[in-house]
Amino acid sequence: MWAFLSGNQVDIKDAKVSIMTHALHYGTATFEGIRGNWNENTNSMYIFRMKEHYERLLRGCKILRIKLPYTVDDLCEITIDLIKKNNLKEDVYIRPLAYKGAEMVANLKLHEVSDDFALVTLPFGSYIDNSNSIRCQTSSWRRPMDSSMPTGVKLTGLYTTNILAKTEAVSAGFDEAILLNQDGTVSEGSGENLFMIQNDKLITPAETDNALLGITRDSVIELVTKEIGLEVQQRRIHRSELYLSDEIFLTGTAAHVTSVGELDNREIGTGEIGIITKQIQDLYFSVVVGENSKYLDWCTQISMD
Ligand SMILES: Cc1ncc(COP(=O)(O)O)c(C=O)c1O
Repeated sequence: MWAFLSGNQVDIKDAKVSIMTHALHYGTATFEGIRGNWNENTNSMYIFRMKEHYERLLRGCKILRIKLPYTVDDLCEITIDLIKKNNLKEDVYIRPLAYKGAEMVANLKLHEVSDDFALVTLPFGSYIDNSNSIRCQTSSWRRPMDSSMPTGVKLTGLYTTNILAKTEAVSAGFDEAILLNQDGTVSEGSGENLFMIQNDKLITPAETDNALLGITRDSVIELVTKEIGLEVQQRRIHRSELYLSDEIFLTGTAAHVTSVGELDNREIGTGEIGIITKQIQDLYFSVVVGENSKYLDWCTQISMD
């Protein structure tokens, strides 16, 4: 297996950093999670909305004052080359990481600290089983406010909170955690955005609710509006509204579109995958494997020999 590190493709066994690396000590890195979806029928990989992921990575770089010698197009090309090199003919997870690579452990600054970029592409099946509804728990951990930690980009340091929340939920026998904001309104899952459905209307927390503005979330909003013809509202959601909603689902690169059948030991709707959630899942899955010609421009097709 090959990785990309400091400008070169290298054997993943040799893709190493020093114990002195700034990002390892302070969480001064930004990452993306991108999916390549394998389609057996066309013998091709379809990378979903790669450009948008790299645009978000570069927004994270701007906040952390990381200067990469690459444009979005360069990063897409580096990714395609690595996938071809690894010759993976299955679903893959693409993980770029831009980080403060300097060996400076006692330096609490972003400037005067050099940067680096790494990329790995790994076989990746389902993160959460989407064929059934999952059981969620409202986390005792709160989503940080953007005024404490930028929440609109994927900064590695921010994920300590998400990992505490996911660990707490799974240790208590649930599948996923839902994080509230500091004021008790709903933010998102530990690695997913949240939608609830009430009277055929989709409602999802807004940007100001400290949720990451997910690329899957954006795709679902467009698909639901244009293809299913339902209204989507972006607004604050109270915790108790979730208990009383007809359907809830989570969206994310790793989790795709996942139905929530139970929250805090209360059944959501019938507890099974809801009718609208199922419709969205079917549409989304056809799009991400390049089988919906209308949305092919969201996919970068790599044909494998
Ligand atoms: C905290 C968090 N929220 C939401 C998402 C969903 O974002 P996307 O759909 O861009 O993967 C992710 C995954 O990247 C995430 O880590």
